[in-house]
Amino acid sequence: MWIDVQTKMEETQIPSTTITTDFLRDMGFCQPSMGMILGTGFGRFSEMLEVEARVKYNDIPGFPVSTVAEHAGYLVSARHGKTRLVIMQGRIHRYEGYSPEQVTFPVRIMHQLGARTLFVTNAAGGLNRFFQVGDLMSIVDHIDMMGGDPPPSIGPPDFRSGPVYDEELRIVLADVAAKSGMTLRSGVLSSMLGPSFETPAEIAMLRRFGADAVSMSTVPEVVVASQLNMRIAGVSCISNMCVGDEPSPIKHEDVAVVVNDAIDRFSLLMTGMLEEINL
Ligand code: HPA
Repeated sequence: MWIDVQTKMEETQIPSTTITTDFLRDMGFCQPSMGMILGTGFGRFSEMLEVEARVKYNDIPGFPVSTVAEHAGYLVSARHGKTRLVIMQGRIHRYEGYSPEQVTFPVRIMHQLGARTLFVTNAAGGLNRFFQVGDLMSIVDHIDMMGGDPPPSIGPPDFRSGPVYDEELRIVLADVAAKSGMTLRSGVLSSMLGPSFETPAEIAMLRRFGADAVSMSTVPEVVVASQLNMRIAGVSCISNMCVGDEPSPIKHEDVAVVVNDAIDRFSLLMTGMLEEINL
């Protein structure tokens, strides 16, 4: 039922993935085994790898352009040892006005380039009262509060998610963290459309629903990757705690500062995982 994605994309005016992947292959993006999306404050991670090619989103045919500060807007081809990654340095959000199809277009490109694993990162507000600002959280599952998922015009209408986040990858992440003496939380991520931060009532609702953290991204990309049968893992950085009983003092700039401070720990975790899984 969901084979003719290309025709659907043309009908809905989403550019052809073939034009984009051909362009990227010409620019040196060859056979990545993993796609990675670096959210707010995580961008610096790609500079810790061996970068092979780097193109601005504006220069890639069909690519949506990130308009948010702290989202550099580069697609990067990089290696760590034998593993080649295609990395979004900065993501596209629904709250920038992009449709689910546009936000998830880069995931289709990563898949078409050859990536069969997707690693997602984001900054998130902490809902679990045991969490602390700066904690890293391995994503166990998600609650989609953003709506519009899966992308209605392209995705399979009868798609049902089983477990989405790969258990083996989660175990590897936990092992790497334990070996390096690092605290790695695990929990359920919820997604809100944003860009406003949550009201006290929304925070109370999300907690009751069983969410441990809340972000304004990630779920659309993960849904599409899961439809494409990719292995998925992800880490959130708790950039603020959702207090709930007072107006949130948090600003988007503050979020990036906290994540930046966690980047060395994230890097240790990520490179340890790449060495372990040997893609
Ligand atoms: N809410 C939603 N998204 C976020 C938050 C938050 O408190 N912090 C970082 N991203």
